[in-house]
Amino acid sequence: MNIPNSFVEDGMAGDLRPCDPARYRDVMGAFATGVTVMTLGTADGFRLGVTASSFNTVSLDPPLILWSLALRAPSLAEFRRHDHFAVNVLAADQKDIALQFARPSEDKFAGIPTEEGTLGLPLIVGALAHIECRTVARYPGGDHEIMLAEVVSLRRSDRAPLVFQSGAFHELAHA
Ligand SMILES: Cc1cc2nc3c(=O)[nH]c(=O)nc-3n(C[C@H](O)[C@H](O)[C@H](O)COP(=O)(O)O)c2cc1C
Repeated sequence: MNIPNSFVEDGMAGDLRPCDPARYRDVMGAFATGVTVMTLGTADGFRLGVTASSFNTVSLDPPLILWSLALRAPSLAEFRRHDHFAVNVLAADQKDIALQFARPSEDKFAGIPTEEGTLGLPLIVGALAHIECRTVARYPGGDHEIMLAEVVSLRRSDRAPLVFQSGAFHELAHA
């Protein structure tokens, strides 16, 4: 069988070509994701959060999720040090929160209302879902570290999700 490698008629931008960094970013950016903020916190007031779209489900039994963090991210050392963290799945009206946690700053939580979860972690008020997790394995993933985590407790609301695609935030349009 002949597999065509040119899809111009389908609106595809030309032939299949070898992977280079610019093409990789461009093509992978086509994959739409939700947006999360991964938060850490301890009883002595320490807290930290990172915007991440690499979140995904892995296993139902046991309940496992994964996400990956850049090796150059200053927060990586803290995610290696602490096993418990919370996934805050952002709602459509929380784009500013996504941007705030994607920039290095002295206090990433400034102006952001939070409540404390069952593990003492900061949970972002108004999120679409909160998922408290415990990291069970860390794997090398090129220039990122992959964290596999067990889900401890979770809840959701019926808010609309924030969506990220091709470097921009979107709201879900129902078909
Ligand atoms: C929508 C969005 C998704 C992101 N997803 C990831 C991700 O999955 N992994 C990652 O390492 N960085 C991701 N980033 C970049 C980090 O949020 C950013 O580098 C942040 O500054 C890291 O936190 P830190 O500087 O406190 O370590 C994302 C940024 C945005 C805006």
